[in-house]
Amino acid sequence: MDGLDLTDLDRFAHGFPYEVFDALRRDAPVWFHPATANTPGGEGFWVVSRYADIVAAASDGETFSSEGGPGREGGGTLIEDLPGGFAAGVLLNMMDDPRHRRFRRLLTPSLAPRAMRTIEADLRRRAERIVDAALAKGECDFLADVAAELPLQAVAQLLGVPQEDRHRLLLWADATLDHEDRALGESTERTQQAAAEMFAYGSALLERKRAEPAGDLLSLAAHARIDGEPLSDLEQQMLFNLLIAAGSETTRNAIAGGMHALMDDPGAWKRIRDDRSLLPAAVEEMLRWSSPTPYNRRTATRDVVLGGRTIRAGDKVTLWWASANRDGEVFPDAYRFDIARSPNPHLAFGRGGHFCLGAALARVEMHVVFDTLLDRMDSAEPAGPIEYTRSNKHSGVRHMPVRLRPR
Ligand code: HEM
Repeated sequence: MDGLDLTDLDRFAHGFPYEVFDALRRDAPVWFHPATANTPGGEGFWVVSRYADIVAAASDGETFSSEGGPGREGGGTLIEDLPGGFAAGVLLNMMDDPRHRRFRRLLTPSLAPRAMRTIEADLRRRAERIVDAALAKGECDFLADVAAELPLQAVAQLLGVPQEDRHRLLLWADATLDHEDRALGESTERTQQAAAEMFAYGSALLERKRAEPAGDLLSLAAHARIDGEPLSDLEQQMLFNLLIAAGSETTRNAIAGGMHALMDDPGAWKRIRDDRSLLPAAVEEMLRWSSPTPYNRRTATRDVVLGGRTIRAGDKVTLWWASANRDGEVFPDAYRFDIARSPNPHLAFGRGGHFCLGAALARVEMHVVFDTLLDRMDSAEPAGPIEYTRSNKHSGVRHMPVRLRPR
């Protein structure tokens, strides 16, 4: 693995480097990545690339903490340490049980499959408007015009954010997640400004929800209690940031990645169009294929052996979901986009106690977008090169020019 640097974001600027992870799974499935000039904090970290090892670690939240570990003040689920008490330990996804479990339980009913059934008709109407507008253009940026729109509208609706503000929120989230002009762990004036504006927006909105609760998720968080105590202001604020980012920056990449795969395989498009019962399995394959969240980090809380290697208490451990999703031990012919793949136990939504809380929402969004496209669009073809987000944390598409032909 000489010279391999997973903190050099240029490696990710043209899509996820699957070939690197094929070599890791084969030769060094639990590998200690030494620090390089690009690595935040000048500290190496473990890279876990096989499905079975990733499942084992993700299922043991006591040993593999999302919050932190011995000997370090910060932690969290990115390679770079985030400050404890500000992000780590405050954000729901960077918090350990038992508080994590109680916090999560507050939100589960609003995001459960049953709740999704009540918003499906609204999502479908929105998808129809989005798809019709893109078809009317003929040539468009599939990412901005189609893939990003429904997830963004849906998360605004869910949180109780006025729809007219949604694009500002997306710009702020994009600025903080894409690494167009900066290295890992670095911020620029632009990203700091975006983060500050998002923070100010979230604070003002939460203030309104405290005064005038509505039936949305943010109002729920503003009035929720754990053991009789309200969530701290910072917990509420960070939940807003998390849900905006998780809601708007992931599903869109699964939609764009799925469309990209289907453009390469027009036969599959026709099969699903003629038999919609194939769509749920096709959506799962799009999730496996696109793996919008390539990795999450944990911190070892004790010495532990994983895949034959001894990991020390306090070490950073990265779990590469995207690599697991190409593991030939679990997925026969893993590099084939197979819309009928069954079983398909992909890890696009993670595994264990932090399994994606928005999985049902993401699935229904994907379902209605593709169902609408299948109804109204005859075919799509690339109208220019696809441009990827420069990030090892989001397998994102920045632009995807396409030509759409109506039915
Ligand atoms: C295709 C779309 C999506 C993908 C690939 C995805 C991926 C993931 C992954 C891998 C995790 C686990 C993180 C970890 O273990 O450290 C996660 C957690 C989470 N996701 Fe998603 N996500 C998607 C959509 C959404 C949406 C639409 C929402 C909400 C609006 C959402 C909200 C969350 C939350 C709140 C967590 C933290 C759960 C916890 O810590 O208990 N996600 N997601």
